[in-house]
Amino acid sequence: MEDKKNEILSAYQFRHACKVFDTNQKISDENFHFILETGRLSPSSFGLEPWRFVVVQEQELREKLKPVAGGAQRQLPTSSHLLFILTRRESELKFDSEYVTKLMKEVQKMPEEVVKFVSNMYRMFTEIELENNEQLIYEWACKQSYIAMGNMMTAAAQIGIDSCPVEGIDREKVASIFHDEGIMNKHEFGVACLVAFGYRSEDPHRQKTRQSIEEIVVWR
Ligand SMILES: Cc1cc2nc3c(=O)[nH]c(=O)nc-3n(C[C@H](O)[C@H](O)[C@H](O)COP(=O)(O)O)c2cc1C
Repeated sequence: MEDKKNEILSAYQFRHACKVFDTNQKISDENFHFILETGRLSPSSFGLEPWRFVVVQEQELREKLKPVAGGAQRQLPTSSHLLFILTRRESELKFDSEYVTKLMKEVQKMPEEVVKFVSNMYRMFTEIELENNEQLIYEWACKQSYIAMGNMMTAAAQIGIDSCPVEGIDREKVASIFHDEGIMNKHEFGVACLVAFGYRSEDPHRQKTRQSIEEIVVWR
């Protein structure tokens, strides 16, 4: 147990926002699928899995994205795998949308009467908590996507793979590029963020800094 805990904590220490990756080292397909699997298995509110993962490996497309990804200038050309996390928009997440209905029936395999019950609860949740507001619903869905992102970065670190989460992108412009490329429909999905994966080309320039546990935890 102690060994396991130390191993996990050292992965958290190992993970840092890697700025430049070693272009000579590629993540194996098997390892990258392992990372994706931890994203797939991530939890989401009502189990709606509002994410979609786009892995951009084509150099030409990466070049196209460079001017609209200011926060990833060094990661974009050097990362072994560049993963964009898309999130479903409000229309896709309506209680009676094709997506939600299919998810409950075909993925979660709910019987008809359970679908009715859960989708009614979900309808009330979106009406009361999220005010049926397009932006609030989209942001709520993005929160779920960030859980998958965190899990994938931690899993990567546990097998010695570096990563960098990036929000420094012009989301609308990235969405338009993906839309024009036929990667996604921008009326159905938005671009939440990206994560670059690979192997560091040098050790981090600075020590990991965090507030102490006492500063961030309240016990009552
Ligand atoms: C949601 C999110 C967005 C981030 N956006 C960027 C970014 O656009 N570019 C970048 O180089 N780092 C980005 N970072 C990395 C943070 O700056 C970094 O995680 C933080 O400074 C802590 O350092 P550490 O991850 O090395 O421990 C982002 C991190 C998170 C969680």
